[in-house]
Amino acid sequence: MTEQAILRVEGYCKQFVLHEQLKVIPSSHNVDLEVFSGSLTALVGPTGAGKSSVLKGIYRTYLPSAGCLNYTAADGRDIDLAKADEHRILQLRRDEIAFVTQFLRFLPRQATEDVVAQPLVQRGRPLEEARALARDMLAAMNMPRRLWGISPATFSGGERQRVNLARGLVAKPRLLLLDEPTASLDLKTSDLVVGLIEKLKQEGVAMLAIFHQPELVKRVADRVVELKPPIMTDSPLEEIA
Ligand SMILES: Nc1ncnc2c1ncn2[C@@H]1O[C@H](COP(=O)(O)OP(=O)(O)O)[C@@H](O)[C@H]1O
Ligand SMILES: [Mg+2]
Repeated sequence: MTEQAILRVEGYCKQFVLHEQLKVIPSSHNVDLEVFSGSLTALVGPTGAGKSSVLKGIYRTYLPSAGCLNYTAADGRDIDLAKADEHRILQLRRDEIAFVTQFLRFLPRQATEDVVAQPLVQRGRPLEEARALARDMLAAMNMPRRLWGISPATFSGGERQRVNLARGLVAKPRLLLLDEPTASLDLKTSDLVVGLIEKLKQEGVAMLAIFHQPELVKRVADRVVELKPPIMTDSPLEEIA
């Protein structure tokens, strides 16, 4: 029996319409890809090719302009993430799909260990248990212990990125979206992240990732999907519509 992908993206397109300037900004164009459990699909291509816009479409930060984003949920049902209702999307974000973006978001004065524990708490884990798992993940990420109890507000780029990754990995999602998770990390910490990604694969997590460094793609990707830069037109809105 051939294994079925848990995510099947077909003909995904995204363009941004700037109504005030009567302009259309092309982003992702006709993207097809598959993501399998226990496997990592890497998205590559030049800056501006629409890589981040693919992840944002899957997480439904953006609504696609065209295409299907077929996801097989843990309950076995197939859902087009482009069409699912908000309630279902929120449930999937809580229970199944995690997104490590390029920027860390957190509440003011929230301790780092609580920022990391948040996905577990949202799934109903008791706070102390969630915090203990969060601390384990921060330790695995080589975060100095003195930082665990304070807010990430004053952290360096690399420290914030580690907090962001720890939060994405702690709840072991079914589908993990990673947007340049190692861009501000040193080599040693990047190696730690590679080790954690390998471990998640063994545990059956499906991953779709964008990496800054091509050598990381070689090390961790099971499949590579290349996006071409969009064709820039300067057409005014009425010609395109
Ligand atoms: N919210 C947005 N509004 C307008 N244009 C956007 C928005 N998000 C992305 N874009 C544009 O879409 C194109 C692709 O962006 P992005 O998906 O971030 O590419 P990549 O991650 O491959 O560098 C870029 O030209 C970018 O400026
Ligand atoms: Mg990007």
